[in-house]
Amino acid sequence: MDKVRVGIVGAGFVSHLHLNAYQRVAGVPVEVAAVADINREQGEKLAAQYGIKQVYTDYRELLDNKDIDVVDVCVPNILHHRVCIDAAEAGKHIICEKPLTGYFGEDKDVDPMEVGKLSRREMYEGAVKNAREILDAVVRNKVKLCYAEDFVYAPPVVKAKRLLEASGGTILELRSEESHSGSHAKYARFWHQAGGGSLLRLGSHPLGLVIHLKRWEGVRKTGKPIGVRSVLADTANITHTEVFRQTKERWLVDEWHDVEDWATVVITFEDGTKALVMSNDITLGGVVNTLNIYANNAVIKVDMTGNDAVKAYAPANETFGDEYITEKIQTKAGWSFPSPDEDWMRGYPQEIQDFMEAIYYDRAPISDGQLGFEVVRATYAAYLSAEQGKRIDLAELDAGVEK
Ligand SMILES: NC(=O)c1ccc[n+]([C@@H]2O[C@H](COP(=O)([O-])OP(=O)(O)OC[C@H]3O[C@@H](n4cnc5c(N)ncnc54)[C@H](O)[C@@H]3O)[C@@H](O)[C@H]2O)c1
Repeated sequence: MDKVRVGIVGAGFVSHLHLNAYQRVAGVPVEVAAVADINREQGEKLAAQYGIKQVYTDYRELLDNKDIDVVDVCVPNILHHRVCIDAAEAGKHIICEKPLTGYFGEDKDVDPMEVGKLSRREMYEGAVKNAREILDAVVRNKVKLCYAEDFVYAPPVVKAKRLLEASGGTILELRSEESHSGSHAKYARFWHQAGGGSLLRLGSHPLGLVIHLKRWEGVRKTGKPIGVRSVLADTANITHTEVFRQTKERWLVDEWHDVEDWATVVITFEDGTKALVMSNDITLGGVVNTLNIYANNAVIKVDMTGNDAVKAYAPANETFGDEYITEKIQTKAGWSFPSPDEDWMRGYPQEIQDFMEAIYYDRAPISDGQLGFEVVRATYAAYLSAEQGKRIDLAELDAGVEK
């Protein structure tokens, strides 16, 4: 391979994060050679902005392009399953955005607006089947699957891993969160398009991170990853409550149709240690991306979004004009903390660097398809736990044991 040729499927929000990251790759020759988006205008706009030569409206044409080595899946969640499998069958390596896949009611004759009411047991089985089919297609076609979980690559997390390794300590508890004031994407409001609410959409990041950290610890200490044994979860729709409805000031997104806007999951790992994962769409004041590690001999606290390297004051919201401050703050007035390089702090360039090296040098990526699979499994088991109001043991669930 003289260089890695990438084809991007989807020309929306996250594609910009990936394209900015491709431009920063060092030591591996990379060309983003094509983009496919059903919306031609959107695809052409992205191509013009980043100098991409080829634009398709059907991703299958991109898959037919023999020059493309890797397909970067940046389309809505519901399409990940189909595009990943088609890409694998076409012999292309895959980068897939989070979540790897989910359940969207696709196998049921049901009103799309009612999908969120389906039984969580069926959802679990459907989502795990979808995820398994992607992994099987990848193995069958001998391609790589890079799971785009940027939290794993965020420099503050990487530093925390180095400290943990140096301490030789054992992780006893992890607490991780992604929350903000709500996604403005319309598809996020409906289960049949998003595959879930804040737990899947936001929680896949902290879930992916804590699952990665325990797997990494297990491999480092005994050669065997430590997996998830059980989950205990609660979900809610707080913006649907009467107390919220009665409030007058509306800073939060509150048009969730059949998806939750609040979720908390307690994970018990196979070694008996714990993680607490929180994700909600009811948090004002910017994005919360945090991780606390409690080890037997150390405490490490990580904040991927909140940093005060730059402090700025403005008497009015308009003072700084269009200049970006940080994601999802409601005002630029008063003191603020403009992020000098938000993409870098969240691990997007490091993630793409790892994926390009993995493909170029033929090695495994740090964030792989197995992590994506484990996140899908834990997420939908958590939905089942919230529905039933009890702890769910994953091995028992997979064995079909109902307690
Ligand atoms: N890692 C992160 O921090 C992060 C952030 C945002 C989104 N995401 C993930 O990225 C994915 C895309 O989200 P987004 O916010 O960029 O969405 P978006 O709506 O901004 O963009 C999606 C694009 O896909 C295109 N599209 C839809 N159907 C298509 C098809 N059949 N073929 C080709 N293109 C098609 C749309 O026209 C649109 O341009 C989601 O899975 C989301 O979970 C990840």
